[in-house]
Amino acid sequence: MSRDKKIIIGNFKMNLNVHESSLYLHTLAGMVKPRRNVEVVLAPTTLAIQSLSLQVSHRQFKLAAQNFYWRDHGPYTGEVSATMLRGIVKYGLVGHSERRHVFHESDKDIRDKVQAAIRNGIRPVLCIGETAAERADGETQHALHDQLVGGLANVTSDELEQVIIAYEPVWAIGTGQNAVPSDVTAAIQAIRNHISHLYGKPAAEFAQVLYGGSVTASTAADYLALPDVDGLLVGGASLDAHAFTQIIELAHQSGSGEEEL
Ligand code: 13P
Repeated sequence: MSRDKKIIIGNFKMNLNVHESSLYLHTLAGMVKPRRNVEVVLAPTTLAIQSLSLQVSHRQFKLAAQNFYWRDHGPYTGEVSATMLRGIVKYGLVGHSERRHVFHESDKDIRDKVQAAIRNGIRPVLCIGETAAERADGETQHALHDQLVGGLANVTSDELEQVIIAYEPVWAIGTGQNAVPSDVTAAIQAIRNHISHLYGKPAAEFAQVLYGGSVTASTAADYLALPDVDGLLVGGASLDAHAFTQIIELAHQSGSGEEEL
């Protein structure tokens, strides 16, 4: 997918049960116009993925898994594999800060999940971002570098095209304290530099990089206007159909290719 198309992902996190997700999708479907220059992705609870995949218009919305285990099958009680999600979701979040910090996922877990997604035809959305302490210590660039190297360790140049990077500063997630656009540009340029060192300049220019962290309908346009930002990963505001629809329209207006689908 080219960088001309903006990607807007709504991460519902552990909100909206199966019934509520279905009602929400119904409401959203009545509000969102399918646009050629915006890919709208919904990441509901794992429990609702199957039913939403039958309800959704795939022209209008794509689905993402919030999480999955890296093994394909076996004695892993309670887990869902990328193999099981194959063909149902187009994307899978990997390394979200809540997975890293609440569930203590390691770089190895994250790199194995990136591999599992690619192996199963799912585009991994590798989430990286510095904590408040790393930021205060001037360690943002190091943190981003280490998380990128950790997550991409087994990814070949060919496979890199499947990977989306989401820059989500941990201190900005769910706090209402969103990063200022100049900081986002600096961080994403650092990310592209690291990719350039690992895979070469063309790969860095081609890579799709999203911003996430307290994005609202009032702040979305500021990020979407940044040339380095290819879309948004939206948490809280994606649970409000009006706000999320507005964010999607702003993405459409910020991009090229005007027509409806
Ligand atoms: P908020 O938009 O609620 O800050 O969440 C961001 C996020 O974590 C998306 O994955």
